[in-house]
Amino acid sequence: MNNKLRAAISTTAPATPLSMRIPERLLTLYLRPLMGSLLNLQPVEDLNLPPAQSELAYSLYIHIPFCETLCPYCSFNRFIFHKELAKQYFQDLRAELRLVHELGYRFDTAYIGGGTPTILIDDLVALIDEVKSQFGIREVSCETNPNHLVPGIIDRLAGCVDRLSVGVQSFTPELLRAVHRLEKFGSPELILDRIAYAAPLFPTFNIDMIFNFPGQTPQMLRGDIQAVMRSAANQVTFYPLMVSRSVARSIGVMGKYSPLTELPLYRIIVEELNQAFESQSVWTFTRQQHQLIDEYIASHEEYLGVGSGSFSYLDGRLFVNTFSLKAYHEFLAKQHLPLTGTKQFSPKERMRYRFLMEFFNGKLDRDHFINSFGITPEIGLWLEMLFMKCFGAIHVDEEHDYRLNPGQQYLIVVMMREFFNSVNQLRDQARRSLSPAERLLCQIDK
Ligand SMILES: C[S@@+](CC[C@H](N)C(=O)[O-])C[C@H]1O[C@@H](n2cnc3c(N)ncnc32)[C@H](O)[C@@H]1O
Ligand code: SF4
Repeated sequence: MNNKLRAAISTTAPATPLSMRIPERLLTLYLRPLMGSLLNLQPVEDLNLPPAQSELAYSLYIHIPFCETLCPYCSFNRFIFHKELAKQYFQDLRAELRLVHELGYRFDTAYIGGGTPTILIDDLVALIDEVKSQFGIREVSCETNPNHLVPGIIDRLAGCVDRLSVGVQSFTPELLRAVHRLEKFGSPELILDRIAYAAPLFPTFNIDMIFNFPGQTPQMLRGDIQAVMRSAANQVTFYPLMVSRSVARSIGVMGKYSPLTELPLYRIIVEELNQAFESQSVWTFTRQQHQLIDEYIASHEEYLGVGSGSFSYLDGRLFVNTFSLKAYHEFLAKQHLPLTGTKQFSPKERMRYRFLMEFFNGKLDRDHFINSFGITPEIGLWLEMLFMKCFGAIHVDEEHDYRLNPGQQYLIVVMMREFFNSVNQLRDQARRSLSPAERLLCQIDK
């Protein structure tokens, strides 16, 4: 553990008894291999998506993988922005969406993530208009960066986007400098001013923050939380730093990452934010309820992702699109879906996936589980349910559903962190097989 952080925690954060650490440690040990095998995708040629089932509600994810600057902690599929490449990409996205439409898919919600979706604002607005009329989409969530919260860019999305999410990561100048965002996106004061301008334009305005950066002290985190509370945003998401191998290398200069500092920092977030916000998921907090959240994978059981490096989960099977921009274009020029790998989940894996996504939002629906799998969670997932019960993490509510007990959300944070770490390992692996020219565009050297 970083010395500065250890000293600060020992004086300012509540001590974490060893007993509190055991469940999370056991869980991490149990989950690592499980998540690895869950996401062990098989490369397949000539793959297609299953046709849509008319009775199901799906959500659509659209990935825009271009950024003006590449942040060292980020292991998403992103490339340095080149206008011609990005223009072509928007055309290819349209072609992919047409193929998806032909398979009968309709969506009520679209999540546009990146990368930086607002990087070509005219193309983005045209794309949103098109998908709304093509698929009957009613709600749109979109991501951006602080330098785009200005007139001429962000006001173009007013009235067409329901939830805007801006990545801030931290309001601490030292941390912003360390992740190369201070120069690019400006000081905390400038970012707060831009949020004050943009937030009233959208029903939900979310700030994405990261905690547990190497070198982040509890005092720094408290300063971040205060800034969020002063801001005009009505939603905040605090992600634990997720460290794949490539991220560990690129953030190495900040100090050594430690999962042991995660719980005391998470407790500070929950305690302090609860004065003004309510929990909406284990890491999203809102000033009012019933808003969209970032995790499209948890809002609808089945989702379809378009764009390079997107994932889809349909009919118990995971699909992944090619991470190569060149291959993405070539697939679509031939009118083929740009799929590169798949994994059929076993019944047990489907149950585990349901367990994780539903508890992420606080509740496992027992009847829905029985209807889907013909078995109760206590039998189908006896080990997981026993674990949750033994550590006092869940109770049965009046509708016979399982709810997380207050103060036990951290177990789910650990599970989600492990899940996303596996997704990030998969992204790392996919990037390693890109051509040297594309590796240069995403600044991957190994
Ligand atoms: C992938 S970015 C896309 C949107 C936008 N470019 C941005 O920077 O916010 C969405 C959010 O993912 C989170 N994120 C990225 N890498 C992460 C990591 N390694 N660990 C935890 N959160 C991460 C950041 O909070 C970021 O704002
Ligand atoms: S955090 Fe956002 S801006 Fe930074 S590289 Fe990732 S997607 Fe791009």
